[in-house]
Amino acid sequence: MPLSWVEIDLSALRYNFMQVRQHLLRETQILGVVKSDAYGHGMVPVAKELAQSGCRFLGVSKYWEAEKLRNAGLKLPILVLLGIEPEEMHGAIAQNIRPVLFRLDHARSLSHAAMKLQKTAPFHVKVDTGMGRLGVPHETFSSFLGQLKELPGLHMEGILSHFSAADEADKTHSELQVARFREALQLAREYGFNFSYAHIANSAGLLDLPHAQFQLVRPGIMLYGSPPSDEILHPVPLRPVMALKTRVMQVKQVPAGQPIGYGKTFTTPRSMKIATLPVGYDDGYSRLLSNQGAVLIKGQRAPLVGRVSMNLITVDVTHIQNVCEEDESVLLGQQGTDRISAEEMACLCKTISYEIFCSLGRNRNRHFLNASFSE
Ligand SMILES: Cc1ncc(COP(=O)(O)O)c(C=O)c1O
Repeated sequence: MPLSWVEIDLSALRYNFMQVRQHLLRETQILGVVKSDAYGHGMVPVAKELAQSGCRFLGVSKYWEAEKLRNAGLKLPILVLLGIEPEEMHGAIAQNIRPVLFRLDHARSLSHAAMKLQKTAPFHVKVDTGMGRLGVPHETFSSFLGQLKELPGLHMEGILSHFSAADEADKTHSELQVARFREALQLAREYGFNFSYAHIANSAGLLDLPHAQFQLVRPGIMLYGSPPSDEILHPVPLRPVMALKTRVMQVKQVPAGQPIGYGKTFTTPRSMKIATLPVGYDDGYSRLLSNQGAVLIKGQRAPLVGRVSMNLITVDVTHIQNVCEEDESVLLGQQGTDRISAEEMACLCKTISYEIFCSLGRNRNRHFLNASFSE
């Protein structure tokens, strides 16, 4: 019996996928972003569920993630968002893995590998329309395309960009990005590139900027049941996919004046009932939740008292009747009628739900519930 475990509800993932689907223009398809172990949710089972639901592409950050999906039997086209290294080009072509290109030397390596294998290598090219991160700057895109056009053995399947602030209520910058993106698409057409997929929209973009859905959208966080931010103008109902659970390890009545945990940051103001739970920052449970967070026991909130340590936390259960050792406790997710959400935890940790999922998802004991695919 593990001390703590993460539950991944794949029926919630399917529900969220349908919410994306219903929000899209009819011709728009979905690239499910499963990078970083599907934001901590487990890349392979999540990808299998998305494939079953009608996803058109899968998106990962790194080449080894794409290889892992192929080794697990996933057949969908895979896009490697951070591009691939020259020594990985052969393998990518052979395994139907598409790189994102934003450097000419990478394009030359891909062309070289394609010629050697006597194949045509599909790729997507990334243009930076205002994120200031990866991508060919939109100002120099024309010259990049000109040089790309000279390289044999390549097929530009798609052109992408990435929104930097689509999750903010003010869409001025996003609209500028869309306008620059349209110019980039027009340029590529003028150079004679015959691409099938233009894509710029993440979850926030597909919700709030429907005219920027083009032929493909790239949702991540929405699929995992969390809204991209609280400024979204057109939110849709979502179901959280991840829960973190544990069991009470010890309960004890302590006297008034008892310091709790490292650093004596909490001292009992009166006699209190304290439950100790076997979860800590080693499990991705942030130390910033010390004296701030709460867990659910018997459907009621038990506030954290004292510091989060490496493997343990302590919570106040004075007000909860009959708490016993081995009682189940929910640190993320629903119990009874109450829920601890990733957004609530993120707010306390001054971060975003994305980071909460990635951190808690490192838990080695992951249970996948309600899968629709067979192994
Ligand atoms: C290139 C790219 N596309 C799409 C996404 C998905 O974004 P979101 O999780 O906000 O939907 C990400 C995530 O960071 C990304 O890096």
